Amino acid sequence: MNAGFLTANNLHKNFNGIQAVDGVSFTINRQEIFGLLGPNGAGKTTTIRMLSTVLTPDTGDVEVNGHSVQRESNQVRKLIGVCPQDLAL
Ligand SMILES: Nc1ncnc2c1ncn2[C@@H]1O[C@H](COP(=O)(O)OP(=O)(O)OP(=O)(O)O)[C@@H](O)[C@H]1O
Ligand SMILES: [Mg+2]
Repeated sequence: MNAGFLTANNLHKNFNGIQAVDGVSFTINRQEIFGLLGPNGAGKTTTIRMLSTVLTPDTGDVEVNGHSVQRESNQVRKLIGVCPQDLAL
């Protein structure tokens, strides 16, 4: 695993036969502003939900500052903030 602040590694998510995310990998380094762009339904929101511990990937993992989103979700939640597209409370 490289030294990026956030590393998404081969993420997959399927919803009842719909492959919402199909092998997404990327690294975000410290002090970097990263834009995740794609057409409607491309899987952006599903990816963000997996990065932010809301949704568990079918396969793949995310590390935030060296912490696994799946195995160390509490440590990850201490490091992140999320402002969603709709409904921010
Ligand atoms: N909870 C869910 N149950 C079933 N299908 C879902 C669910 N969430 C997303 N999908 C499907 O997964 C695919 C990816 O959706 P997603 O919302 O991640 O895309 P998006 O890139 O955020 O789209 P948009 O630009 O419209 O916000 C779409 O086909 C969507 O219908
Ligand atoms: Mg979306």
